[in-house]
Amino acid sequence: MAEKPRILMCPPDYFGIEYEINPWMNVARGADPARARAQWNALKDTLVDLGVEIDLMTPVEGLPDLVFTANAGVVYRDLFIPSLFRHGVRQGETAHFEAWARSRGFQVVEPPEGTNFEGAGDALFCGETLFAGYRLRSDARGHQWVAERLGVEVLPMELVDPRYYHLDTCFCPIAPGVAIYHPGAFDEYGRAVIRERIPTLVEVRPEEAQSFSCNAVTVGRTVVLNQGAPRLAEDLRALGFATRPLDFSEFIKSGGSAKCLTLRVDGEEAAAWKTGPTATP
Ligand code: ARG
Repeated sequence: MAEKPRILMCPPDYFGIEYEINPWMNVARGADPARARAQWNALKDTLVDLGVEIDLMTPVEGLPDLVFTANAGVVYRDLFIPSLFRHGVRQGETAHFEAWARSRGFQVVEPPEGTNFEGAGDALFCGETLFAGYRLRSDARGHQWVAERLGVEVLPMELVDPRYYHLDTCFCPIAPGVAIYHPGAFDEYGRAVIRERIPTLVEVRPEEAQSFSCNAVTVGRTVVLNQGAPRLAEDLRALGFATRPLDFSEFIKSGGSAKCLTLRVDGEEAAAWKTGPTATP
C-alpha cells in the first residue's frame, strides 16, 4: 500500500437513538453521549495510531445516524456514488455526504431515482469483485446499476436475517481473497457465492456475530473490531492478522460498530482500486 490510508468519520455530536429502523434500535434504550464520544475517540485514535489519515464530516443536528459514514456511499477512484436510503429518517443525510464528496474533488453520480442503495454498508469489494447485500436496505437493482457504472463484477446476495440488515454487519473482506463472514445471515445461495469466490474464509459463530464482530475495519494486517470475539481474534491471528478490540456498546444500540463508523476513501488493499482523487482536503 503506497499511500497513507484515508478514512472518513463524523463526530457523534448529534448521535442518538431517535427512531427504530433495525432490530437493535429501541428509543427507550438511549445511547450515553459521553460514552459514545469516548468510544468514537478511541476508534479514531486507534486508526491514527495505525497510520490512517482521518477526514472529518461536520455533524448535523437532527441526523443522528450521520455518524455511520460507511453509509455515505461508495468511493471508487475519483467517483462517489451516494446512498439513496430506504428509510425517510436517513434520507436527509445524502445531501451532506454529497457536499463532502464534492468538496474533496470527487465526481458525484447518483443512483437512479426509485432505487435503494446504502453505500459501503451494503457494497464491499473483495479483490476486484463487488459483494453486495440486498433486500433489507439496498435493492438488487441499485447494486446492478452501481456495478455497471463502475464497470465491475457484482455478486448480489440476499440478507435473510433482519439483525444483519447491512452486508457489513455479517461480511468483511480483510484482504483480496480473504474475508470473515457469518453464514447464518445468508441463504444457501449467498453462502455458496462466498465460498466459491473467496478462497480464505473465517466463519464467525452466531454468538460472536451478535456482538458485531464482523463489522470490522482492516488497516494493513490489523483488524479493529468490537470486543467480545475471542474465537474470531484467534482465527485472525492464525492468518497473520493482529486485532484491536474496542468497546462500541453505544453504537451497537443503533445497530452499528467499528466499520459502520468509517468510510475508506482511498488506497484500500481489499479493493479493486489503488488510488483516490488527486484533490486533497
Ligand atoms: N442506525 C443505523 C441504521 O439503521 C445504523 C447504520 C449502521 N451502518 C452500517 N454500515 N451497518 O441505518
